[in-house]
Amino acid sequence: EKGGFDSFMEKEIHDQPQAVADTLLGRADASGRLELDELRIDPQELKDISKIVVLACGTSAYAAHVAKYAIEHWCRIPVDVELSHEFRYRDPIVGPDTLVVTISQSGETMDTLMALRYAKEQGARTLAICNTNGSSIPRESDAVLYTHAGPEIAVASTKAFLAQITATYLLGLYLAQLRGKLFQGEIKDILADMADIPAKIQDILERKDEVISLAHAMKDTTSVLFLGRHVGFPVAMEGALKLKELAYIHAEGFAAGELKHGPIALIDEGQPVFVVVPSPRGRHSMHSKVVSNIQEVRARGARTMVIAEEGDTAVGEFAEWVFRVPETKTLLMPLLSVVPLQIFACALAGAKGLNVDQPRNLAKSVTVE
Ligand code: M6R
Repeated sequence: EKGGFDSFMEKEIHDQPQAVADTLLGRADASGRLELDELRIDPQELKDISKIVVLACGTSAYAAHVAKYAIEHWCRIPVDVELSHEFRYRDPIVGPDTLVVTISQSGETMDTLMALRYAKEQGARTLAICNTNGSSIPRESDAVLYTHAGPEIAVASTKAFLAQITATYLLGLYLAQLRGKLFQGEIKDILADMADIPAKIQDILERKDEVISLAHAMKDTTSVLFLGRHVGFPVAMEGALKLKELAYIHAEGFAAGELKHGPIALIDEGQPVFVVVPSPRGRHSMHSKVVSNIQEVRARGARTMVIAEEGDTAVGEFAEWVFRVPETKTLLMPLLSVVPLQIFACALAGAKGLNVDQPRNLAKSVTVE
């Protein structure tokens, strides 16, 4: 049942190429026209919405953060991302012109279910992105887009996260298509790049030993920081969450630009810092700013572990360790850059002799508020 792996988590990390491929399967025709028939929501209603609010918790909320960058860029619709348990208690502004998207692997997270019910009471249109057929959240939503990651057993979410990002991107492209914000050819190109992602994840998995040796060497570490910018920011937060929940190590993810506003004071000799570097082929200023951030922490004694694109020659000089991810579009990078961070947390927890599938104090689905 663990497919020859020592833990469900390792198996699920290795299921990720399939999870992304299956979530993409059958959603578009040969010309790249998306047909999300299963949505059960009138396309006209989707055309008329003026804002999107995405509600989720934990890892699913980081998928929502990633989605915001893509959906706003492609559709020019404002997207707010909020933790489900914060949303309900602050008198949020939602109404019939709002599309409330919930993201949940289990479909049973009580915080998200209650937030969904609240949004419905306010008259919002609701859409669930969910991995569990027939669970409460999709059942109570107007529309549903299933992720096809297959059952996720390990408490720490991995393949569901990648499938969630994939599904939110399909939604974003579908809305862009409905609202005429992207040309059909552009949508087709993005879908073609997404279709290449599974093979690129496979390439990363084949080089997992590079990450596992680092994790073993770092097994006595007590604190790790993660930095990212743009879509790399939620990836940094997800890398930190994986390490907290699996290896019980204090970890924090920051927006790299926030460093000088406080967190840089944490850096002293030997502090490990992971940096998720955007593509040098994307927005040049963003890449060079992150490279400067690596320099800044390195100059203050940090140990710098860098996730960078193949062929990015700028990072080598300031990095103690570099893991290369294959080239892809900036917006698709999270689907690759998070994978070494998942492997790192899993391997470090394993090296400490911890139960990676069932970390202490946690449940797979949080069905209480
Ligand atoms: O089932 P859900 O996606 O609604 O669960 C949300 C969170 O509880 C979940 O992602 C949690 O943070 C995981 N333990 C993360 O690995």
